[in-house]
Amino acid sequence: MPSFTRALFILTVLYLSSLSTFAENEGLSMNFYKDSCPQAEDIIKEQVQLLYKRHKNTAFSWLRNIFHDCFVESCDASLLLDSTRRVMSEKEADRSFGMRNFRYMENIKEALERECPGVVSCADILVLSARDGIASVGGPHIPLKTGRRDGRRSRADILEQHLPDHNESMSVVLDRFANIGIDTAGVVALLGSHSVGRTHCVKLVHRLYPEVDPALDPGHVEHMLYKCPDPIPDPKAVQYVRNDRGTPMKLDNNYYRNILDNKGLLIVDHQLATDKRTKPFVKKMAKSQDYFFREFARAITILSENNPLTGTKGEIRKQCNLANKLH
Ligand code: HEM
Ligand SMILES: *[C@@H]1O[C@H](CO)[C@@H](O)[C@H](O)[C@H]1NC(C)=O
Repeated sequence: MPSFTRALFILTVLYLSSLSTFAENEGLSMNFYKDSCPQAEDIIKEQVQLLYKRHKNTAFSWLRNIFHDCFVESCDASLLLDSTRRVMSEKEADRSFGMRNFRYMENIKEALERECPGVVSCADILVLSARDGIASVGGPHIPLKTGRRDGRRSRADILEQHLPDHNESMSVVLDRFANIGIDTAGVVALLGSHSVGRTHCVKLVHRLYPEVDPALDPGHVEHMLYKCPDPIPDPKAVQYVRNDRGTPMKLDNNYYRNILDNKGLLIVDHQLATDKRTKPFVKKMAKSQDYFFREFARAITILSENNPLTGTKGEIRKQCNLANKLH
C-alpha cells in the first residue's frame, strides 16, 4: 500500500502543478490571439504602417502612449478613455500635455473589429502599436506578449503620483521606474525616446526666462529662443522645439550625444547626462547604438508587462475611447 500512497501523492503533485501552469497560461503569452484572431498582429502592423505613411508623428504618439499607459498602474488602455461627466480622464491631465493622434487609435481598432469583433483589447493594440511604431522610426523590433484586457476607468488625478514631471529630480525618476522593475540602464534607454518628436515651449520657457539656464549650450539657447520667443507662450499657438534637431524622425542614440553636449531640452534630459548614477550609461549608449537598442528593448518589455488585467478581469472594449456599457 505504501506504493499506492506514493502514487497518489505523485498524482496530486502533478495535478496541482498542472493547475499552476493553467494559472500562468491565464497571464500574458506570445501570440495570444493565434486561435481567436490569427491575423491580429499583422492587422495592427499594417495599420501602423499605413498611418505612418500619412502622418509620421503617429509613431511618436504610439511610443509615448506605452509609457503613459503602462507606467500608470497597469497596461490597461486607461489612457485612451474619454472623460465622463463626473471624472476627468488621464489624457486630459497636464502630464499628458501634447499627446496627439488618439483618433487614429480608433482606425486600428476598427480594422480589428471588422476582422474579429470583440476579441482584441485596446490595451494590446496600444502596446503592439508602440512596438510597430518603434520599428517604423528605425528602432529595434521587440517581440512582446499579448493577452491584456481593458480597464473600465481612467482618472486624471492619479497621474502625478506615477508620471514624473519634466523637472523631476533623478532620484524620484529612478525610484518610480524601480517600482515597476526597471533599473538605471533601463531608465536611461527609455529616455532615449526623446530622440524623436517635440517639446512645447510651455515645458521649456522656465529654462529660458527670466534668465537662461547656464547649463544649456549657447548655440542651442539661440535656437530655443528663436522657437520660443515668448516667456508665456500663447496656449493656442503651437510653439515647440524638436527633441533631436540632428535626426528628428529617427529613434537613435543621437539623443545621448545631444544631452552630453548640453542640448537636452527638459531638465530630466539634462540631468540624465550629469547625474553620476546615469551618466555612465549615457556615455555607453552614446557610443553604441546596439547597446542602446538592447537595453531599450529590455525596458520596453518590462514596461509592457506592468500589472496587466488578464483572464476574466476587465473587458474587451468595443471602442478604445469608451468603456463598454455594463448591461
Ligand atoms: C522622466 C520621464 C519622462 C518625462 C518627465 C517626460 C516628459 C515629456 C515631455 C514634457 C514631453 C513633451 C510633450 C510636449 O510638449 O508635447 C515628452 C515628449 C515625448 N516623450 Fe517623454 N517623458 C519621460 C519619459 C518618456 C518615456 C519613458 C517615453 C517612451 C517610452 C517617452 C516618450 C516621449 C515621446 C515619444 C515624446 C514626443 C511626443 C510627440 O512628439 O508627440 N517619454 N516627454
Ligand atoms: C516644475 O515645473 C512646474 C511648472 O511646469 C512648476 O510648477 C514646479 O514648481 C517645478 N518643480 C520643481 C521641482 O522645480
